Amino acid sequence: MCGIVGYVGNRPVVDLLIQGLRHLEYRGYDSAGVAFFRDGIIEIEKSEGRLVHVEKLLAESSKVFQGSKCGIGHTRWATHGKPTTQNAHPHRTGHVVLVHNGIIENYQEVRKQILERGHRPLSETDSELFGFLVLEEMNRGLGLRESVRKSFLKIRGSCTMVVMSEKEPGVVVGVRNGTPLVAANDPLGGGVFASDAQGLLHVSKNVVFLEHGDLAEISEKGLEVFDLKTGKTIQRNATLLDWSVEQLDKQGHAHYMLKEIYEQPSSLMDTLNALVERSNGIPFSLAHQPAVKLIENARDIHIVACGTSWHAALLAKYWMEKWARIPVNVELASEFRYRDPVVGKSSIIIGLAQSGETADTLAVIRKARAAGIPTVGITNIRGSTISREADAVLYMAAGPEVGVAATKTFTAQLMTLLVLTGHLAVKNSQAHPDDQVQGIQKLFEQVIQMPHLLADYLEAGKLAKDTKKAARALKDSRGFFFIGRGFSFPIALEGALKLKEIAYIHAEGYAGGELKHGPIAMIDQEMTVVVLAPLDIWREKTVSNLEEVKARGARILGIGDASDLVLQSLCDHWIALPPGLDKIDSSLFPLALTPVVQLLSYEIALLKGTDVDKPRNLAKSVTVE
Ligand code: G6P
Repeated sequence: MCGIVGYVGNRPVVDLLIQGLRHLEYRGYDSAGVAFFRDGIIEIEKSEGRLVHVEKLLAESSKVFQGSKCGIGHTRWATHGKPTTQNAHPHRTGHVVLVHNGIIENYQEVRKQILERGHRPLSETDSELFGFLVLEEMNRGLGLRESVRKSFLKIRGSCTMVVMSEKEPGVVVGVRNGTPLVAANDPLGGGVFASDAQGLLHVSKNVVFLEHGDLAEISEKGLEVFDLKTGKTIQRNATLLDWSVEQLDKQGHAHYMLKEIYEQPSSLMDTLNALVERSNGIPFSLAHQPAVKLIENARDIHIVACGTSWHAALLAKYWMEKWARIPVNVELASEFRYRDPVVGKSSIIIGLAQSGETADTLAVIRKARAAGIPTVGITNIRGSTISREADAVLYMAAGPEVGVAATKTFTAQLMTLLVLTGHLAVKNSQAHPDDQVQGIQKLFEQVIQMPHLLADYLEAGKLAKDTKKAARALKDSRGFFFIGRGFSFPIALEGALKLKEIAYIHAEGYAGGELKHGPIAMIDQEMTVVVLAPLDIWREKTVSNLEEVKARGARILGIGDASDLVLQSLCDHWIALPPGLDKIDSSLFPLALTPVVQLLSYEIALLKGTDVDKPRNLAKSVTVE
């Protein structure tokens, strides 16, 4: 969590830092700040709350001047110390100023030593302590880079530090140790650091993904990388990214989340095209990536994930077991990592994470690798920690997602897992009866149609109207249940999570069959039950569940096939799925159900007046346990 930017070069630094931080605010937004050189002195503006507060301070401040070309910035998700201005980064210690992401694990010990040596930290953070260590080294006569290196060897923990000093204007030093840090040369001269590529795309698309244990320096000479342990120069190559700065703008939408919901047809298509070789006529023909080989060779598949990614994984289990006949275990990474699961060298562990940084998922990958169990990461972020630490990686191509609540990365995960399912199904097709083989071919043709069908559905505008209407009618419900069976069950869980995340309303997702085992006791007139009942083999059973909750007074919002007038007549409120969906295999219905539950949560959150893109207490990239 926390977003970092650092810059040295020829561009006005304050604007550049703010622009970078805006794109990193999803990483944490309880306080923010920037530090920049002005006539040899480092000025700091910081504030609790959102980055806009800092922008306001800067607009009113006489400190800023356009000539400043060197600075660092930070947006915080608090761990040590409350989200106050005092605890906001950057932190100053004498002539040393720094920003930090992650946790100094031996913080108590370092603090004790610092106090013993007569220093008096001003904040409650672990971060500020690092400044004292650097200051002491510099006072002994070392330069900034060497001081940062030596100081870093005294702390433990997974963290990123970016530091500058009034003694060395025009130099910014960064360390990546666990938590992410990327860097680039500025084509106009100088260099830039950021927590991820989104934070520096406005400077360069040629991004260096620093490695764990890299020490880097930017100056007017550009970017230089060194080994943290030895201080020796090392070579790191840049990767040219195909993301654009325009993708990071709202492009006329009221919120990033809304824009990202509407981008799903194209991100699904991009993901499909990125993964599948379509010219050879073989359905679901995945390019010969190492990740695919590892998965093909596995006897059993374990997918570990958190939050929304866990829902995508659950659906993958349904798909893979149905189509590819491979046993799949799906588990929350936070549970898997601390138990003793039955896995071995013939298993594969897939860590699924849109951010590629989630601490629990990463921990499972590390533990598995240490035990010699093959691992694959599936993520949207090139160069992310999971992508580097897993044995192999599959990238989805959702493009940058700025809204904290995952939307298009969820459906891109579904697409990735779906093509993987299809690929494994084709691979195992000797074991299938003929009709199953034909089924796989047909499924592939329909997978290609889905993005078009969804684009028409979203663009027609009826869905937006229907979700607005339902949101207005139901927003004051005491709580929401989302129910579904089969392929719709993970989407019921996802619908409930979205509503909790962005509208702060109590919501739960249940498999329809579970209602009787407790949850139905909660049902009365103040509860809304969102029933996901597309035309599949589970529809009848789900309709029975609908009748049960309706009889107990719940308000019913039905989501079903456009032709399902019987279901519609049973519901108080109704949202029709895309016309023509009844001709598509039911495995793909979740791709159509998802935008409905996403938009419903979005509309309810709007009516509640919450901060949709940056919901309270959440962060998009959860790099601490
Ligand atoms: C955070 C985000 C969620 C996301 C979860 C897992 O909690 O707010 O939207 O689903 O992390 O993220 P991952 O990167 O592992 O998919």
